[in-house]
Amino acid sequence: MGILARSAVSRKPNEGMRLIITTLVGIAFGFLIGVSFPMLTSTKLNIPSQDLQGKNSGLSTHTLLNAFSALKGNKDTSIEAKKLINTSKIWVPSNPRGAERLPPAIVAAESDFYLRRLWGLPSEDLTIKQKYLVTFTVGYGQKDNVDAAVKKFSGNFTILLFHYDGRTTEWDEFEWSKRAIHVSVAKQTKWWYAKRFLHPDIVAAYDYIFIWDEDLGVEHFNAEEYIRLVRKHGLEISQPGLEPRNGLVWRMTKRRGDREVHKEAEEKPGWCNSTLVPPCAAFIEIMAPVFSRDAWRCVWHLIQNDLVHGWGLDFSLQKCVEPAHEKIGVVDAQWIVHQTFPTLGNQGQAENGKAPWQGVRERCKREWSIFSNRLLNAEQAYYKSMASDP
Ligand SMILES: *[C@@H]1O[C@H](CO)[C@@H](O)[C@H](O)[C@H]1NC(C)=O
Ligand SMILES: *[C@@H]1O[C@H](CO)[C@@H](O)[C@H](O)[C@H]1NC(C)=O
Ligand SMILES: *[C@@H]1O[C@H](CO)[C@@H](O)[C@H](O)[C@H]1NC(C)=O
Repeated sequence: MGILARSAVSRKPNEGMRLIITTLVGIAFGFLIGVSFPMLTSTKLNIPSQDLQGKNSGLSTHTLLNAFSALKGNKDTSIEAKKLINTSKIWVPSNPRGAERLPPAIVAAESDFYLRRLWGLPSEDLTIKQKYLVTFTVGYGQKDNVDAAVKKFSGNFTILLFHYDGRTTEWDEFEWSKRAIHVSVAKQTKWWYAKRFLHPDIVAAYDYIFIWDEDLGVEHFNAEEYIRLVRKHGLEISQPGLEPRNGLVWRMTKRRGDREVHKEAEEKPGWCNSTLVPPCAAFIEIMAPVFSRDAWRCVWHLIQNDLVHGWGLDFSLQKCVEPAHEKIGVVDAQWIVHQTFPTLGNQGQAENGKAPWQGVRERCKREWSIFSNRLLNAEQAYYKSMASDP
């Protein structure tokens, strides 16, 4: 059967010859279907896998389709045809939503960012399958800082840059830029990009995902070593210890010099009702988060489409892992400096006599309260529905 189909292709026969061959193929096809369904699947799979490697793959698919219609038009084999149509009605509720009509074995629900060649065997495309993903949201003005940061990530990391200023080709001055993925959309925030381009099924190949700002000082940071510590201490959501340039916000994220990792901190009195809740535990900030694959599957859903700054997200990450105070932590031994360069803030718009960054800052705060209220309402609605639904 496979041989027949292929010879029809390679000889490029005239129409008469082609009709005979397709009819023969059709009869053989119908016969096989009549004999057993499992054979149908193996036959169907064999043909393309041999032919797709040739340049005539389109033609061979065409031949198959011809065979199929010849089969349908033939009265003697109409019963076989009906059987075929009945048995090919597939509905698999456990498939991903929308893909229920496909046989599960062909469903490719997940993807990755691996670069592939346009030639050769697909199975030989990848010499290394990177296990980690690092993204930076960047403007060209920060190129030197980003270059230094990227160099801290080994070849085991896929590098993905989100460009908010439209300048992408300039980055090719860096050697690593050619193997990086560049996504350019004007004036968006990293959470906007993350929601749209880092769907959990798209980044499923990666054990850990770094979603970082562009203004981090990485002199004391090594990514491979960071991963080792995160694994060792079972951190699903983490960040490097933070050495702030000016002012300190949270004690939890401040680097400690005497340990590898910490998961709790003491805050000012009144900040935490219990020692195990944010910002005293189960807490990291959003400038340099690192998520495990499983944690990201949850966090992606927590990110709201319309709230782009991510304010409030840090206090809610704990909802995604259990127990949060053990799986969220700060890696002290690999630490970073927050340089607080004015960056995306300046991409705002001057309004009512206020500087662009002021408008951005106001929106950040507004989003924080919208997010908190939305989450609270969603939780209340859930508990209410559970109470009324026995
Ligand atoms: C095809 O399926 C329908 C209902 O699903 C059934 O009534 C019919 O007999 C089937 N036909 C054949 C040829 O099996
Ligand atoms: C990349 O990962 C492999 C496998 O985990 C490891 O053996 C290798 O040392 C890593 N490369 C670097 C540069 O750390
Ligand atoms: C502490 O608990 C009180 C009452 O349960 C609540 O009103 C307050 O917002 C909580 N404070 C914090 C920081 O969570």
